[in-house]
Formats: sequence, structure tokens, C-alpha cells
Amino acid sequence: MAKMERLQKVIAHAGVASRRKAEQMILDGKVTVNGKVVTELGTKVSKNDDVEVEGVPIDKEEPVYYLLYKPRGVISSVSDDKGRKVVTDYLPEVKERIFPIGRLDYDTSGLIILTNDGEFANMLMHPKHEVDKVYVAKTKGIPSKEQLQQLKKGMTVDGEYLKAVHAKIMSTDGKKNTAIVQVILHEGKNRQVRRMFDALGYPVDKLKRERYGSLDLKGMNAGEYRPLKPHEVKVLREMAEENVK
Ligand code: URA
Repeated sequence: MAKMERLQKVIAHAGVASRRKAEQMILDGKVTVNGKVVTELGTKVSKNDDVEVEGVPIDKEEPVYYLLYKPRGVISSVSDDKGRKVVTDYLPEVKERIFPIGRLDYDTSGLIILTNDGEFANMLMHPKHEVDKVYVAKTKGIPSKEQLQQLKKGMTVDGEYLKAVHAKIMSTDGKKNTAIVQVILHEGKNRQVRRMFDALGYPVDKLKRERYGSLDLKGMNAGEYRPLKPHEVKVLREMAEENVK
């Protein structure tokens, strides 16, 4: 017999909405199973049932999870109207409709997760989600220890409060007047590392995300990808669930 799962979970996995929103949609009578409106949250369905949300059949793809080492010069999106390279161009063999979880700037390289699991993506992107994101920045100019402290204290940039969890100098090049700085963030606000260093007066020349929670890029080159192992997905899920509560 096909595996039975709760209706809201199936809808969330299809990437239609978060589980909470899916529950609301069910309660609002927007969901049908085999043509009948279902408003009961406990309803269980299998792959053989036809589930529609607002009249549109949901996609019944198996959830898949990949880690990509995004090169610089690539958009964190599934398509680009200007024809620039996008992250999904690097996973041509993947037939599922995957999308990146969050974004790395066009000029930033590093670790990004792609999935077709909307619920998992929502969970990891939850603002309270406190998984370490480790970045390595090459700065123009060499910030002092005191200036790096400022990143940890927090700063308001363009009316937005930005804060790092950790920042330390890894190395400096006095001749070129550059530094390599490791920065750890919990938040993931738009261009956060670059904006924080701009505000300090040490613009970022190069930026790479080396780690995301328990995942790193060991053994990988830019442009390469690999599926996440089931236990890696489990660990990320547990971390996110723990922090959101
Ligand atoms: N901070 C940035 O400035 N850019 C990124 O892509 C990620 C974090």
C-alpha cells in the first residue's frame, strides 16, 4: 500500500505553502482530495490520491536536497530575464523543480542548498532560525580588532539593524593592504556582509560562504554539486526546528 501522509504535509512538501498555511487552506475549504473538498486537518492521503489546491493539482515529486558550490557571477534564482547564468544551470541532471534556499549575491561564491521541499525551505529561512552561516571576506584595507567588534555589537545600516555573531582576522597582506576576515552570521539579510563592511569603511572585494550549519564545501570545486545525505537533511531540520520553537 502507498505511504499515507497528512494532507497539510503533502501540500507543504509540494512547495505550495508552509505547513501552517496549508492547514489554513484546508480549513478554508480550498483543498480537494479526489474531487471532494476536505476540511479535516487529520486527513491522510497517499500518492494515489489527487490533491488540488484552489483547483490546481499539486506536484507529487519526491523531496530532493542538493548542495551547490555556487561560483561567482551566477544568480541565485531558477531563471533570469537577462539570460545570465542561474544556480539551477549547474544541476542539469536534476529533473525535479528545485529552487535555492535563500540567496547569495551574484558576486558571492559558496555553499547554497537547493530543494523542491517548500516546507523545509520555509523552515530554514525562518527569521528565528539560528544556524551559523560562515563567510570569508577579503576586504580592501585592514580593519582593527576594535572595528571588528563593531560588527558583533551590531550596527544600523540604511535603517536596518545588522549584526554578526563572530568576526575575526584570518590573515593580512600589508603590501596589498587587504585582509581575510571570517564572519559568522545567524541572520541572512540582503547583502549583509558587504553592507556591514561598507559601513565600517572596508569594502568587501571577494566573498565566499564556506559553511551553512553542519554543511561545508570540503572536497568540492566551484560549480560542483552533490545530493545531501539523508542524515544531513535530518540534522538541518532538527537544528531549524529547535531554534524556531
Ligand atoms: N552577505 C553578503 O553580503 N552577500 C551574500 O551573498 C551573503 C551574505
